[in-house]
Amino acid sequence: MNLLYMLLVSLFLSSCRADPLGNFCNENTNISSSSQISLNIDRLLAELVSKTPLTGYVVSSSGKDPDKVYGLAQCRGDVSNKDCSSCIQDAAKEVRQRCSNQADARIWYDYCFLRYSNDNFVGKVDTSFGIFYYNVENVTDPQSFNKELGALMDGIRSEAVMPKNEGLGKGKTKLSQFLTLYALVQCTRDLSQIDCAQCLAIAVGNFPNFCDSKKGCRVLYSSCYVRYELYPFFFPLDSNNGTSFGKTAKIVHH
Ligand SMILES: *[C@@H]1O[C@H](CO)[C@@H](O)[C@H](O)[C@H]1NC(C)=O
Ligand SMILES: *[C@@H]1O[C@H](CO)[C@@H](O)[C@H](O)[C@H]1NC(C)=O
Ligand SMILES: *[C@@H]1O[C@H](CO)[C@@H](O)[C@H](O)[C@H]1NC(C)=O
Repeated sequence: MNLLYMLLVSLFLSSCRADPLGNFCNENTNISSSSQISLNIDRLLAELVSKTPLTGYVVSSSGKDPDKVYGLAQCRGDVSNKDCSSCIQDAAKEVRQRCSNQADARIWYDYCFLRYSNDNFVGKVDTSFGIFYYNVENVTDPQSFNKELGALMDGIRSEAVMPKNEGLGKGKTKLSQFLTLYALVQCTRDLSQIDCAQCLAIAVGNFPNFCDSKKGCRVLYSSCYVRYELYPFFFPLDSNNGTSFGKTAKIVHH
């Protein structure tokens, strides 16, 4: 595995839900806060905040070349308009604080994702920067677990690339009377079906590196999101049969 990655020391309890899962400020795109690009970013963010909750997804741009900025905001397909709205509001505010001097910035939450850039990224698969969260606990029977996980992933990946599903696939598999596996995948809606399939394949292809036999895992890319857990996490929410959430660790991968 000749990949460069950095293991962040922090361990997270899954209870801190309102905090972002991560962000990326591209330090090759430094700008000053008084620049025209910066003004265009502010205008763009106001539009993303007001329009995204209507359909859960917006791409837009603001300004003229060479200061034009492109933006994308998307909520997870299963969250309510209300949750979408508050997530995008938080995202717009937080990303501007965290990446106040960068023209290319991205921020991830469980309920939404937001990015903008001076480069037109719309419609392009981007897996150059990834954030991985995994449950530190291992499953007890990796062989059968991986088989069930693979089958569930195959099913929801093919769901996600059907046009009517707008990039979203979700499902569950009963592993035993008391244990259910839940999984969700989602592409950003600017991607073609084939590009969505490619992003999800890269994400799932990284399972052996970052999620191997873990009780839960999340892969966050700029073009797609993949998650599985042994407890219900997507809407409509199943009642939890007492499975604990466990401790989660985070890896940032360039
Ligand atoms: C951009 O700014 C950061 C500090 O905010 C600095 O560390 C970095 O080297 C700068 N990047 C370039 C390409 O100048
Ligand atoms: C999970 O398995 C890995 C390797 O298979 C091992 O290094 C790690 O300590 C295990 N974690 C726990 C919490 O048992
Ligand atoms: C929860 O446990 C009950 C048995 O106690 C079972 O009938 C039910 O299917 C389980 N639900 C899930 C989602 O696993």
